[in-house]
Amino acid sequence: MQQHNVLILDFGSQYTQLIARRVRELNIYCEIHPFNKIPNNIDNFKAVILSGSPYSVRSEEAPHPDLSEIRGKKPLLAVCYGAQYLAHFSGGLVAPSNTREYGRANLSFVKDNEAFFKNISTGSQVWMSHSDTIKNLPENGVLLASTHDVENAAYKIEGETTYAIQFHPEVYHSTDGTQLLKNFLVDIAGLEQQWTPNSFVESTVNGLKEKIGDDKVILGLSGGVDSTVAGVLLHKAIGQNLHCIFVNNGLLRKNEYENVLKQYEGMGLNVKGVDASERFLSALDGISDPETKRKTIGRVFIEVFDDEAAKVENAKWLAQGTIYPDVIESVSVNGGPSATIKSHHNVGGLPDFMKLQVVEPLRMIFKDEVRRVGASMGIDKELLGRHPFPGPGLAIRILGDITSEKVRILQEVDAIFIDGLKESGLYNDVWQAGAILLPVNSVGVMGDERTYEKVVALRAVESTDGMTADWVNLPYEFLQKTSNKIINNVKGVNRVVYDISSKPPATIEWE
Ligand code: XMP
Repeated sequence: MQQHNVLILDFGSQYTQLIARRVRELNIYCEIHPFNKIPNNIDNFKAVILSGSPYSVRSEEAPHPDLSEIRGKKPLLAVCYGAQYLAHFSGGLVAPSNTREYGRANLSFVKDNEAFFKNISTGSQVWMSHSDTIKNLPENGVLLASTHDVENAAYKIEGETTYAIQFHPEVYHSTDGTQLLKNFLVDIAGLEQQWTPNSFVESTVNGLKEKIGDDKVILGLSGGVDSTVAGVLLHKAIGQNLHCIFVNNGLLRKNEYENVLKQYEGMGLNVKGVDASERFLSALDGISDPETKRKTIGRVFIEVFDDEAAKVENAKWLAQGTIYPDVIESVSVNGGPSATIKSHHNVGGLPDFMKLQVVEPLRMIFKDEVRRVGASMGIDKELLGRHPFPGPGLAIRILGDITSEKVRILQEVDAIFIDGLKESGLYNDVWQAGAILLPVNSVGVMGDERTYEKVVALRAVESTDGMTADWVNLPYEFLQKTSNKIINNVKGVNRVVYDISSKPPATIEWE
């Protein structure tokens, strides 16, 4: 696998991660590294892609990496800024463009029968996003394609395996973008498409075996996708030496603790369930402020986890479900290359489990890849397709102070809503859904009796990463049925409302 790696040098483009996703969709492994930190093991990379950038090559602060180990020595694809960079510093000319070069454009080929454009027809739609333009090609540049507004839309360098494109093949609107990446990586650079979920599992399990040996590892399971997939990978590698801890903070969904624990046991994981509901609820007693709730839950979790971890004698490692977007070092758009900020822990003051060495089996893969890896290991589809659920759980969906009665009410409401979404086939159309218990009572009437009971809100959003979100237009009929079921079945609730706020300006959670 090592000989079939692609290096993506990041110049700070918002699309860099998308390039990586497209390459990986081709079953080719790649890594993103900042332009100013070209990895020492450059020999492991068989091809290099230069990303776009918010900078102009003409500006003083523009990224200016030393490509001497790459240029002319490895197949190189330069995208947008990358293409301008090669032109600007190798005898070409880059200048501000006269027309706005943003959005859709269509390629017309200057040279036919180019391997670079195999299976792509002239007229193919591409996506442009740049304000400078390449006026003159660099030394030995050979024009390959133009668009209506951009003469030098694609070129290659004679005598090298270097290609450059002004457009973004990684975005959805470049309709043949994946084909173009394939042409470059497979046909031109000679990479093999062998990086599959199965090959990832095999190499990761072997790597974990080698790294961990006979040591014991501790892993906190949350019921979420990442920790579960990390757990199954580690279990394959070291079996019973993996000690999993699954904590019930009393703020999980209805029956979640029991069901998920059973599922984990069914997978053969060596898991210890710790029901600390009482401890969490008593620590939260009387707390209404959202941030104080979060801090309290975080603190108690560490105490509970530390107590349990300490019971595993001679543990050497702490496993975590960290995924690639959490570790990609970002290039700062303002103020030059970002400094890596390291926090300095007072090691003596850390909980015992934090003194362990850290192992992160998923640190090089994206969320959708985690799901595919999980599926390839036979993990239950329903578990892999679960909506995200916040660490502090229902605590941040109970506005105001938390009592066990409020938790019970919200669990009942939430279960009716989520089960309803599943039964109606709507669950997978929604990115995240849940119910919120409001700190107000409203007047209602049941039979001949006046009631004065709680109001709940339902929230269902669509999103890709939780950074922005929109409310889902759930069918009225579904909302009607759900509302009736909640009011008729959950004692203490007499009114249901639906949240129709987008993020921004609202957030997904109410607290
Ligand atoms: P917001 O409310 O900020 O939520 O729009 C965005 C995403 O983050 C989740 N979220 C949390 N997850 N601890 C977590 O682990 C938290 O304190 C927390 N707060 C929000 C939220 O569920 C949504 O998916």
